[in-house]
Amino acid sequence: MTKSGWALGARRLAIGAAAMLGMMAVSATALAQSAIKADITVQADKPGATINPEIYGQFAEHLGRSIYEGLWVGPDSPIPNTRGLRNDVVEALRRMKVPVLRWPGGCFADEYDWRDGIGPRDKRPVRVNTTWGGVGENNAFGTHEFFDLVEMLGTKAYVSGNLGTGTPREMAQWIEYMTAEGNSTLAQERRKNGRDKPWKLDYFGIGNETWGCGGNMKPEYSADLHRRYVTFVRKAGGKETMEFASGANDKDVNFTEVMMRDAGKFMDGLTLHYYTLPTGDWKKKGAATQFDEGEWISTLSRTLEMDHIIQAHAAVMDKYDPEKKVGLIVDEWGTWYDVEPGTNPGFLYQQNTLRDAVVGAVNFHIFQAHADRVRMANIAQMVNVLQSMILTDKERMLLTPTYHVFEMFNVHQGATYIPVSIKAPEYAYGDFKVPSVHAGASRDAAGKLHLTLANLDPNRPASVSAKLEGVSARKVEGRILTAPAMNSHNSFAKPDVVKPVAFNGAKVKGDTVTIDLPAKSVVVLELR
Ligand code: AHR
Repeated sequence: MTKSGWALGARRLAIGAAAMLGMMAVSATALAQSAIKADITVQADKPGATINPEIYGQFAEHLGRSIYEGLWVGPDSPIPNTRGLRNDVVEALRRMKVPVLRWPGGCFADEYDWRDGIGPRDKRPVRVNTTWGGVGENNAFGTHEFFDLVEMLGTKAYVSGNLGTGTPREMAQWIEYMTAEGNSTLAQERRKNGRDKPWKLDYFGIGNETWGCGGNMKPEYSADLHRRYVTFVRKAGGKETMEFASGANDKDVNFTEVMMRDAGKFMDGLTLHYYTLPTGDWKKKGAATQFDEGEWISTLSRTLEMDHIIQAHAAVMDKYDPEKKVGLIVDEWGTWYDVEPGTNPGFLYQQNTLRDAVVGAVNFHIFQAHADRVRMANIAQMVNVLQSMILTDKERMLLTPTYHVFEMFNVHQGATYIPVSIKAPEYAYGDFKVPSVHAGASRDAAGKLHLTLANLDPNRPASVSAKLEGVSARKVEGRILTAPAMNSHNSFAKPDVVKPVAFNGAKVKGDTVTIDLPAKSVVVLELR
């Protein structure tokens, strides 16, 4: 991606996400426990924008056991590592494909002094991580260690700067330290600390959650502060670095309105955070594994809100930026449950079930349907925090259902968005109703069509008929992720309860693909 702007796909999306999810009410009693019927049209003759790989982005904050133990064990650890970064975790993440990694926060970023994390490790100061558990932060993982990880993963770097407690000078100097070619004192200091060439800083975030932990600002003040800091960031920068402004939470479209109105010309991206809580109540969010069908459907219903939230913010952005130069950057999303019993409440450690995999699939489809505006999304977070890809217990590691859905869906990264219209009955339980079948499609550079589907109904299979328009296929292959129970999950004792296997339930005949989609499942199909 060059600094000249976001690479938009050849054509803008022709069809809104809402229109693509047309639903047909069917009485649940009439269908009993038989398979529901769903009709899908894959509109390959109406291709949309390029799906930025960064939609499948990650986030790692100095929080709980995310960095320390999850990624960094130090060079002297008995846990196999390369320059302190644990080999098992890095290998798994490479297989999954990480297109971009955001660091060091989150709330942590607005108290972080980058100078604490450079130079000899035994001389780095220990600070108190005031936001996350009040624990000691020894700064063993800093700028050099982050970029070592970035280069090992072959990913892009997204660094969040300190707007809350730092000065524009400190921010600009960090950027100079990372990106300067010449012989300035900061470039020389970087070389003395072991890195000759500058790093490629792809994205730089100016602050985080300015409306909350980043300073409790009003949007007008936040916009002014962004304008001030970005002036010096741009002078220091990295011609190839794109700058993001800290944006809205949830449904707060006024925040987006003011940021776009007052500072829209001074940013490449504007951020948005939205978390999925089963209950919608921050005081009692719901448990990660101990939940019933009521919390299964409420979680899915609340995660589907992402579509409306993006639509609302995108509509405001369209008003000030009809050419879509500014990307909407959903740089925190995912499920947020009550912490696992007995763990530090400040560490945000939670288990991860089949429900999280379905949440992942639904959100990917939504982001892809908005690929013309949503240029990046970073799930919170990569290891051991909130909706993680990986959990560790000292030397042990497991892959979560969320990891598997990221890995299955990586075929969409960089592909062209293909609209999909769906007619499926609703799945209803208690006060909630959601579409039973959710789907997305793309065509990759080699011309292969990928269709991904999720059955949100935990009880009934779906008999899906997918009509292909503007594309033909003779062969279909696929993989499926499902498990016996809604709350099936991988544990250190049983790490393979939820994992993808080959799927033989799809057949292609003429212009139609028929798919027997089991209850509570996620499927990826490749059509050739
Ligand atoms: O992801 C955990 C925290 O959630 C982040 O630090 C913060 O930005 C958000 O409130």
